[in-house]
Amino acid sequence: MKVDGKDYRTIWLADDGWGVEIINQTKLPFVFETVWLENVDDAARAIKDMLVRGAPLIGATAAYGMALAMHTDASDTHMEAAYQQLYATRPTAVNLRWALDDMTSRLKPIAVTDRPAVAYARAAEICDDDVQICSSIGDHGFKLIKKLYEKRGTDAPVNILTHCNAGWLATVDWGTALAPIYKAHNAGIPVHVWVDETRPRNQGASLTAWELGRHGVPLTVIADNAGGHLMQEGRVDMCITGTDRTTASGDVCNKIGTYLKALAAFDNGVPFYVGLPSPTVDWTLDDGRDIPIEERDGDEVTKIQGKTATGEVVIVEIVPEGAHAGNPAFDVTPSRLVTGLITERGVCDASKAGLAKLFPELA
Ligand code: MRU
Repeated sequence: MKVDGKDYRTIWLADDGWGVEIINQTKLPFVFETVWLENVDDAARAIKDMLVRGAPLIGATAAYGMALAMHTDASDTHMEAAYQQLYATRPTAVNLRWALDDMTSRLKPIAVTDRPAVAYARAAEICDDDVQICSSIGDHGFKLIKKLYEKRGTDAPVNILTHCNAGWLATVDWGTALAPIYKAHNAGIPVHVWVDETRPRNQGASLTAWELGRHGVPLTVIADNAGGHLMQEGRVDMCITGTDRTTASGDVCNKIGTYLKALAAFDNGVPFYVGLPSPTVDWTLDDGRDIPIEERDGDEVTKIQGKTATGEVVIVEIVPEGAHAGNPAFDVTPSRLVTGLITERGVCDASKAGLAKLFPELA
């Protein structure tokens, strides 16, 4: 996607041929800043501190983290240490494990001297594949939006509600939930996006609003609690969210608050779709209740970041001194509440049979 007229991905190989550059997402929407990763410690920190976030981008950063580790020292011991260090960064997005397993299964059998080149090549391939996967999710989701638009037979925009940020910033490019929206907008179908602010970190208000706005997609930021009301009033035509881990039977784990939107959508007959790249399926789990849910620092709940009238970006307290805060970062939407999973191979039921039909070699 373009930022100020220049094409960007969210992660790329630096000009020196071995460093890795990322967009520092903690600074958005106020400052667009890129950061140089020089070693595996930098990559691990970028994931843990959420300079990069979103399941596919976490996977891509872990892959490059492993390449950076091989650049420093390609021994078995260092590879294992890098795996553990990167794996420990965030527990929920399964793309992290997927990317690390993919990288190490290719690196382990080969000579130590060959490992750095193979690691960089594979990390680049993982990024290119992610772009292709997300673009295909966009094509399949686009057909759903087009069908809705044509069925309604008016020129009024299709109103789509999304939660968190599952746009190009959460992937290498295009996004998952937002890819169908970009494709529809590019094709001239009028779309309007209800953007959940997504407390506590506000990925919707800061990231989704930023990237949709930059692309010219009409949007309205809403408080997280507004979605159910808008659905009752018939002002939401469909919901599309992303996912951090979906079980083999179609239970969807995503940013905290997704479940409540799915419940409201179900109660109001609003279709609820999930953009799902295949590396986000955890084929080892059937029950969503077995997915590890990240518990983050209470500071994310008790404080909020914003820009003052004088342009200063500050963090302020919003609760009484000493108030205790809990911060579960994800929740699980049971498959029965999900209308369909939009994958790179097409749309399927959120069920074991649905996923197995599209991905027989993985199921
Ligand atoms: O905590 P985050 O910002 O990493 O959470 C991101 C999400 O929940 C996204 O919706 C999910 O990773 C899908 S991204 C394409």
